[in-house]
Amino acid sequence: MNTTTNRWSSNWVFVLAATGAAVGLGNIWKFPYITGENGGGAFVLLYLVCIVIVGLPLMMAEILLGRRGRQNPVATMKTLALEHKRSRCWCIIGVLGLLSSFLILSYYSVIAGWTLSYTVHAINGDFTNATPLAIIDLFQHFIASPWQLLAWHSLIMIVTIWVVSCGVQKGIERAVLGMFPIMVLLLLLLVGYAIKTGYFTAGLHFLLYPDFSMLGTQGALQALGHAFFTLSLATGSIMMYGAYLPSNASITKASIAIVTADTGVALLAGLAIFPIVFANHLTASAGPGLIFKTLPIAFGHMHYGRLWGTLFFIMLVLAAFTSTLALLEPCVAWFIERFHASRTRAAWIIGSGIWLLGIANALSFNRWEHIRWLGQTLFQLADHLTANLMLPLGGLLIALFVGWRLPTEVSLLELQLPYHNRLCRIWRLSMRYIAPIAIVFIFVKALEVL
Ligand code: PHE
Repeated sequence: MNTTTNRWSSNWVFVLAATGAAVGLGNIWKFPYITGENGGGAFVLLYLVCIVIVGLPLMMAEILLGRRGRQNPVATMKTLALEHKRSRCWCIIGVLGLLSSFLILSYYSVIAGWTLSYTVHAINGDFTNATPLAIIDLFQHFIASPWQLLAWHSLIMIVTIWVVSCGVQKGIERAVLGMFPIMVLLLLLLVGYAIKTGYFTAGLHFLLYPDFSMLGTQGALQALGHAFFTLSLATGSIMMYGAYLPSNASITKASIAIVTADTGVALLAGLAIFPIVFANHLTASAGPGLIFKTLPIAFGHMHYGRLWGTLFFIMLVLAAFTSTLALLEPCVAWFIERFHASRTRAAWIIGSGIWLLGIANALSFNRWEHIRWLGQTLFQLADHLTANLMLPLGGLLIALFVGWRLPTEVSLLELQLPYHNRLCRIWRLSMRYIAPIAIVFIFVKALEVL
């Protein structure tokens, strides 16, 4: 009922919405700090290779599955498997996707809440002239306060639920159309500022100069894992957005546009952040605190730092928000179709479940910090379980299904590619061999880490 009739109002809106889903905390919070931790250029180079040989082909595969099935990820996979006389067990791809998006949103929304809180701090001028110690203290106090984390997490969830409950065109589409361009504009402004710091070439050098001695096996694995997370692959989000794609749209062109834009934003974020870090004589390898500890120190000491800090955190909120919408939608669509529920009801029921689980994630930074399994807090577990296990597994199954189980003619029909086209041959090669082998490799390594 729901998905078969829902459509984006144009192909470009789809590209924008999917890019909004892909661009998020992964690009602006995670990418710069894992690049910093892994020494820069060599890591970036490997990440780009992963994006091209695994990420792009899988993006095409997920969109084509979604558009072919035109239902929620579970029903889509079941329909396609049965239609081509394959086992209905392939619907596990959809189930895994929904579970991943449910779990990811439960912690993503907590971190998105941090960005909202930091926007308020920046507006209030709380970083101005603060000592590094005071800024670190501010962060520690913040995450030690369960009520603050819960309040911001709740706010993010309420707005996300509300927008999703308004529908695909009236809710998600409008929100993305309003937010994404502003986000890009703010990012460009910040890059402009970074150019003026005088440390832009240092940032550029750090990001692009490949020093392979700095890259270990762990870094290489992180590069591949991050390619999944940043492109929102295997969570059902892209498949779901693909289900709303008009039939005449070119999936290949759309995928290239989404992947290029996502990668472009990640690189621009690096180019905005590292020059600011270097200009203030701070270190690039600060880890997850790079955005919440190192940058505020820089904002506190630069000209118009209050303004730049505010713009930076607003940009982060907007980027995170277009991703939370994409994370909620697949589960909501599933609920609507499975229980014939109204969209509003589905959004509030599913959203409340995610909110509840999010409470556990928020508390794992303070009251429940001692609750650990295999030495990890609930938040760390949810992050590892999804990014290192569930997403690679989902991606592997998608590649195997599309590469070996779905008739090639069906894929090519959706992709609008002729059989002997070179792009088509590379794509099939990736689905059948390159992506599965690469994923099995990180999957095994990730199991070792857990
Ligand atoms: N790709 C998003 C980011 O980089 C996160 C995300 C994952 C969003 C999965 C939707 C689905 O932040």
